[in-house]
Amino acid sequence: DDTTSDGGVTGVGDIVHEGLRNLEYRGYDSAGVALVGASSGLTVAKRSGEVDNLTVPDVPDATLGVGHTRWSTHGPPTDANAHPHTDCAGDVAVVHNGIVENHEALKRELSDHKFTSDTDTEVIPHLIEAELAADPELDLLDAVQAVEDRLEGSYAICAVRETGDRIVVARRGSPLVLGRDDDATFVASDVTAFLEHTRDVMYLEDGDVAALSADGVEIYADGDLVDRGVETVTWEADAAEKGGYEHYMRKEIHEQPESLRQTIAGRLDVDAGDVELDVSFPPGFLADLEEIQIVACGTSNYAGRYAAQLFEELAGVRATVEIASEYEFGAGRTPDRTLVVAVTQSGETADTLGAVRRANAAGARTFAVTNTLGSTVTREVDGTAFIRAGPEIGVAATKTFASQVATLAMLAVAVGRDRGALAAADARSVLEDLQGLPGAVQQVLDEEPQVREAAREYRDSEAFFFVGRALGVPVALEGALKLKEISYDHAEGFAAGELKHGPLALVTPDTPVLAVLTDGARADETMNNVTEAQTRGAPALGCVSDGEEYNTLDVSFDVPDVGIVEPLVANVYLQLFAYHVANEKGRPIDKPRNLAKSVTVE
Ligand code: G6P
Repeated sequence: DDTTSDGGVTGVGDIVHEGLRNLEYRGYDSAGVALVGASSGLTVAKRSGEVDNLTVPDVPDATLGVGHTRWSTHGPPTDANAHPHTDCAGDVAVVHNGIVENHEALKRELSDHKFTSDTDTEVIPHLIEAELAADPELDLLDAVQAVEDRLEGSYAICAVRETGDRIVVARRGSPLVLGRDDDATFVASDVTAFLEHTRDVMYLEDGDVAALSADGVEIYADGDLVDRGVETVTWEADAAEKGGYEHYMRKEIHEQPESLRQTIAGRLDVDAGDVELDVSFPPGFLADLEEIQIVACGTSNYAGRYAAQLFEELAGVRATVEIASEYEFGAGRTPDRTLVVAVTQSGETADTLGAVRRANAAGARTFAVTNTLGSTVTREVDGTAFIRAGPEIGVAATKTFASQVATLAMLAVAVGRDRGALAAADARSVLEDLQGLPGAVQQVLDEEPQVREAAREYRDSEAFFFVGRALGVPVALEGALKLKEISYDHAEGFAAGELKHGPLALVTPDTPVLAVLTDGARADETMNNVTEAQTRGAPALGCVSDGEEYNTLDVSFDVPDVGIVEPLVANVYLQLFAYHVANEKGRPIDKPRNLAKSVTVE
């Protein structure tokens, strides 16, 4: 048991339930808990739906508990497929994050066991049961260690046993973090699950197995006891609360001036025309660099597309962007002259980790740009830059996109300066743009009523098209992604020049076109393409640089003058537009259907 701050006593079940609420952003199609007490034995409760649909049983003597919130990979979100999963005897319960790739072969081997779900996970408690049955001397820790050798794929596992007094956990490829306070031990896939209890944490490494009790933790690697060191989390748990906004997404959109300030704080040396990113490369590596390959998924991929243009322009180096799940090192490249940059907010996206592993295997130098300290990606790359955006809870990424682009822009300056490709005066001008970014974003946020009005006017359109050129292309793609994710409306982003090569066939008076018409986005040429759509009857909305004017636009949003980051500032209008269209329609903005914040399967 744990004592709450108001002096009342909170049971293990409540602590686990609260932890699941904190973790719900990782997936929310089913939830469950398993509680163990000395006289009550093992109690399991699980059901499909959000965490709040779950009634956690009252088990007053429980001293151990595990819980799970699911995002389906194998088997639909039913009560039976929810975790925890148990063995035949109902003696062992397991929760699992990841995929057991060889589950079918293992299941065939366990032909005398009765399975009750369609999940890959269920083989794990049955394998544990088989180990324990084969040798009654084994305890749960021994059994999990034995089973771990049999599993292929990625996993973080927590197991409990009816007669046990410890939780046994194992990690390979999926995150697991442990926490300790005076009289309790915690484990979760993200520290936000238990931050209200303790800030002293230990990150497990791949292959680690650990046994947890109220008294402490034993961690084993290859059977040997190891010490993983305690780190202290310094950020505030209440930063992860909604703070008065109706949705996390709107809160996070409005946090951007502050989060961008954190991103650049102490990193810009405007006078010297340089940045301090606290990253280092082997001597001569940047000078000899042939190519930067950026790998990322979703919104992070669009941040990568923005950055690739900056690397070419500011650092004078060829830069390509690949969708992480499609990435191969590629023929004709020189690994020791290639830098592979993984852009990932969570640091846990399985597709992105897969790309990093392929790059490492090819012998390239790897680098991560992430928001998450201690995340898996940071352990697998040669260097990391943190974007410092603070926790982002809304599934649709907003402030992390802005901070990713800002961090990558600083990296481009650093690389450009190191290579002698960027003159100090030119660097200074980019750094001044970055300095102006938080204030410019604030000016856009102040225009929110205008965006809400536009969202109300166009909310019932048949489809939405987003266009831009140059740095406006990734922003157009991101604007469309945001709108489709949270409003469920059909939205597509295009390079403006491509409109006439196909998509124009879809343009009607019922398909508004939203355009990025700023510096860095070849505004006049883009406007020509917008006019082509208007000629076919489409309404046109544009994000236009301060002082410029396109009289034919139906709606014009004013973007402050910040040079190379103007398209990034224009993106804030598109975030607000997506938010207000979705809000007008009453969509579940922070948790859009079928999506998860962090997708830890390939
Ligand atoms: C999921 C999220 C997206 C995110 C993508 C990449 O699909 O729903 O919002 O852009 O993963 O996530 P990462 O953590 O790697 O940036």
